[in-house]
Amino acid sequence: IISMEVLHRPQLFDFHGVSMTNAFTDNWDNVQNFKARPDDILIATYPKAGTTWVSYIIDLLYFGHMGPDRQTSIPLYDRVPFLELYGKSCAHIPVVVYVARNAKDNAVSYFHFERMNGGMPEPGDWSTFLQDFMAGKKVFGSWYDHVNGWWEKKQTHSNFHYMFYEDLIEDYEKEIDRLCSFLGLSPSVEEKERVRASVTFDSMKQNKMTNYSTVPVMNQEVSPFMRKGTTSCWATFVSQYLLSPVVLIKYTFFYTLSRLAAFVI
Ligand code: A3P
Repeated sequence: IISMEVLHRPQLFDFHGVSMTNAFTDNWDNVQNFKARPDDILIATYPKAGTTWVSYIIDLLYFGHMGPDRQTSIPLYDRVPFLELYGKSCAHIPVVVYVARNAKDNAVSYFHFERMNGGMPEPGDWSTFLQDFMAGKKVFGSWYDHVNGWWEKKQTHSNFHYMFYEDLIEDYEKEIDRLCSFLGLSPSVEEKERVRASVTFDSMKQNKMTNYSTVPVMNQEVSPFMRKGTTSCWATFVSQYLLSPVVLIKYTFFYTLSRLAAFVI
């Protein structure tokens, strides 16, 4: 349980070399001692890369048949809990689904998220935010270290599925087939259609169990949690990105290569 003081514009601090806030570190002993059951699935993402989307897809693939009550009365964050917030003493993770999103859209989404969420540090204006983002001074640290670190883990762990937000947008069906085949699921065509209808951006934006309207610390009037759900929304901020071309070239180059490689490996 997180107290409200922790949730009011908390300070960032260095935690084992990664910028963090208390809300995510208070439970660290439990996270470190977490012992997964063989059928647990860890969904890992940098903040704002599509956590909610992929969590909901996986929840529906496994539990969509359980009737409407689960869908209408239990918020998604209780069905697919955040390990760092609620992890009980339960460090071996059998199956990992990682979701990456390109740095530019990820940064824009993160900026609006910090504006609307009193549980996150103050973002400042866009150009301050972007400098901090590129310096890794954001909750969960550097986008590059995160996306790259998990990419490297994928090379040595077989039970690891690495997805890209952009692929889900561009070819949803293909990505779901790849995900299902990784998870060993074979949903019927009807089941897949049902999942598809529930996880469109518009459905999830209307759905109180997935749009975070149940979380008081988020002010959806400042910016809705389900904001745009597109790729290349960064283009409106393009002039700001020219501030640091070298870092962005590194980000974009690495990301594009990984995305291409994911189809080959
Ligand atoms: P935007 O702010 O760019 O709209 P997370 O769940 O990791 O916090 O990520 C949130 C981002 O994923 C938001 O991006 C949100 O709109 C987007 N998102 C959530 N559900 C989506 C869906 N069904 N389709 C497309 N984008 C989705």
